[in-house]
Amino acid sequence: MELSQDLSAAIYLAATVLFIFGLKGLSSPRTALRGNLFAMLGMAIAVVTTLLNPQVQSYGWILGGLAIGALIGVTIALRIKMTSMPQLVACLHSFVGLSAVLVAFGTFFLHQMNGHLNTVTLIELAAGSMIGAITFTGSLIAFGKLQELITSNPLIFKGQHFLNLILAVVMVAFSVSFVMNHDWVALGVTTAIAFLLGFLLILPIGGADMPVVVSMLNSYSGWAAAATGFTLENNLLITTGALVGSSGAILSYIMCTAMNRSFFSVILGGFGGEAGEGSTLSQSVKKGIKSVSAEDAAFAMENSSKVIIVPGYGMAVAQAQHALKDLYFHLKERGIEMKFAIHPVAGRMPGHMNVLLAESEIPYDAVQEMEEINHEFSTTDVALVIGANDVVNPDAKTNKSSPLYGMPILDAFKAKQVYVVKRSMKPGYAGVDNALFYYDNCSLIFGDAKQVCENLLAALSCST
Ligand code: TAP
Repeated sequence: MELSQDLSAAIYLAATVLFIFGLKGLSSPRTALRGNLFAMLGMAIAVVTTLLNPQVQSYGWILGGLAIGALIGVTIALRIKMTSMPQLVACLHSFVGLSAVLVAFGTFFLHQMNGHLNTVTLIELAAGSMIGAITFTGSLIAFGKLQELITSNPLIFKGQHFLNLILAVVMVAFSVSFVMNHDWVALGVTTAIAFLLGFLLILPIGGADMPVVVSMLNSYSGWAAAATGFTLENNLLITTGALVGSSGAILSYIMCTAMNRSFFSVILGGFGGEAGEGSTLSQSVKKGIKSVSAEDAAFAMENSSKVIIVPGYGMAVAQAQHALKDLYFHLKERGIEMKFAIHPVAGRMPGHMNVLLAESEIPYDAVQEMEEINHEFSTTDVALVIGANDVVNPDAKTNKSSPLYGMPILDAFKAKQVYVVKRSMKPGYAGVDNALFYYDNCSLIFGDAKQVCENLLAALSCST
């Protein structure tokens, strides 16, 4: 069975609409599953329609590739840990980049033999190859840093930006030569420089900024796919690539704003060094901390009328979400108003906390975003901060010398009593001390987040 061009175009349009519904669904945990199903349906329709294209002459290689790819994909999906998701995404982006390069070269040699190359196609090939090559090597470096195969510290050297600029100019010059002379060697040099630029652009970016970089590479991979779509004259690939490219760019921008980083400083690199570069906390704040036991905190919580839980990266590390769910339901059954407050960059990837809380089946309506809940802290008896640090640091509001200054935070410090659960006095991701720990209304409960949640529950259960 072969599909006419008009029918294929109509089906592709339907698939595009499904992708848009998919993206819309992903904007909230409540609709994320439905969004994923729409996107999967759209992709299934797209693949089948493409296979029925009259240009497809045999299925042997395609089905073989599909089977091997599906086997590898399912195995990885079943095994991957939630905390390793960013590096998996980086790895997958590198495939998109490499395929854009291969399609560009394949198309060039095919059409060159048939003598069918026009200027527009040549520009598309050069663009697809450049963006694809940068995405490929850039994603490999991001993967290596996140997987700790290479150091996550920024690798900076003098004249780096100048070198990148020169390379970019030479790359564009070779791509112009390729378009004008139909010369595959010029395309080869263009691509080789783009591979090198991918390395050089990502190496100076510290591990701390990698999630933004992964989201940015996601955007690049979308544009690479769109360029491939032009080359292959496939409208669906063009629209899908544009959707991925623009949504990745928007996500990068949102993450930068929520981390108080300028998008360009992340892209230009040299930021996001490892934590521990010293505290910027003003000495006037640094008086001493109070440490209490889980039993003390449980007593305060059972005598509260409203408790807000603020989860952070430490909850993910400790996998404390299930213990937290038990604590949530226990206190709720006692008639205490319970809510979760989520900062947009709590954890290490977008939606990290939401996914973990949803996994432990905490009701969606108990989970609120920063803008929705921030005004409620001042009427809250207890704010229980579980493995979160930077996202509740009041220095972001008050201390101009803090690297966090200007970053929006959860106003946990406004609650009558704040308990912070963490294992030590080590700083969070930004590497700065937390002014909150020294506030009169704040006490620390030292210990692993999961263990402390279990201790809190045990203490509460004893008192019922
Ligand atoms: P962090 O500021 O990194 O603080 C996490 C805290 O969890 C640490 O203070 C750590 O203290 C504690 N912790 C770690 N393991 C623990 C365990 N097993 N039990 C108890 N506590 C544990 O995390 P956050 O507040 O979620 O903020 C996120 C940070 O990551 C922000 O600076 C944000 O800008 C950055 N960031 C986020 C993203 C995204 S998209 N989410 C992307 C890039 C960067 P101890 O070691 O003392 O236990």
